[in-house]
Amino acid sequence: MFLVTGATGQVGRRVVRLLRGQDLPVRAFVRLTSRYAELEHRGAEIFIGNLLREKDIQKACQGVKYIISAHGSNETSEGEAALTDYQANVDLIDHAKAAGVEHFTFLSVLGAERGYEDAPVFKAKWEVERYLQGSSLNYTILRPSGFASNLLSAAERFHQTGIYVLIGDPKNRTSIVSTDDLGRIAVESHRREGAQNQILAVGGPEILQRDEIPKIFSRVFNREPIILNLPLLAVDGVRNAVGLFNPKAKSALGTFRTLLANEFFCFSSEVEQLEAVFEMKMETLENFIRRYLTI
Ligand SMILES: NC(=O)c1ccc[n+]([C@@H]2O[C@H](COP(=O)([O-])OP(=O)(O)OC[C@H]3O[C@@H](n4cnc5c(N)ncnc54)[C@H](OP(=O)(O)O)[C@@H]3O)[C@@H](O)[C@H]2O)c1
Repeated sequence: MFLVTGATGQVGRRVVRLLRGQDLPVRAFVRLTSRYAELEHRGAEIFIGNLLREKDIQKACQGVKYIISAHGSNETSEGEAALTDYQANVDLIDHAKAAGVEHFTFLSVLGAERGYEDAPVFKAKWEVERYLQGSSLNYTILRPSGFASNLLSAAERFHQTGIYVLIGDPKNRTSIVSTDDLGRIAVESHRREGAQNQILAVGGPEILQRDEIPKIFSRVFNREPIILNLPLLAVDGVRNAVGLFNPKAKSALGTFRTLLANEFFCFSSEVEQLEAVFEMKMETLENFIRRYLTI
């Protein structure tokens, strides 16, 4: 039995589809308020719970052989990362051990090791990585860059208006990863020798400067791009203004700012390693967008 947390999320949903496509037993950890009908139709066992309740985690781990931890906070409030990204994973690791789980796949984030002080999600991921490594469980830690599926709504907006909003340095580099590839990698991690007890950076096959993204959209939709480039100072201004009324919200925006202010890309050697371990070719952003929005 596989236990998938964050089963209604961008990656988790794909993970459940892939596992059920192979007829494997899956327990999908979902909240009652979530949209999980599709997972049920695909034959996943639906476990209703909340990852902030340790008792739910303990119950969900019973009879489980593999765990794929794909949940995450949306960081709308300070402390959410500490509870959802950190504490829920620590509880999951503890109860996985107690239940005799054979392999634990953890969705971290590219750059988790960089020690960004102002980014609660990065800090939580880093601490969970260390906890998992010291836990005696077999593990795979995946550190993905930004997901291609995050860009689908921007691509649709571009299709309609030609407008692309770019915040921060347009020359910052990124390796957007196909969310479908990431789902496959997460599903395969427990049975790939080269993924056992490893930390793997997971990025797309090309290093893109951020201003190349609207150029890709332009090729896909055959339309001239209008790029609105806002300086990072604009985000700082909003953050400071929010902070006057709500200091917690200001702090919660720290991860967002960190993502905009820094480069997150994989070296070609890392992508080659990934492709060798999982025997696959990583998909480009252009191909991903074409598959979802033009077919
Ligand atoms: N998105 C990116 O570009 C990116 C990049 C690098 C790493 N990551 C990491 O990759 C993982 C997957 O990201 P994603 O974008 O697929 O996530 P997502 O779409 O934001 O989904 C988050 C999932 O976590 C669930 N969740 C949150 N709090 C919960 C709680 N208290 N109890 C039960 N479930 C809860 C949500 O359930 P509901 O449906 O009930 O809300 C949802 O299924 C995350 O760990 C994220 O940090 C993401």
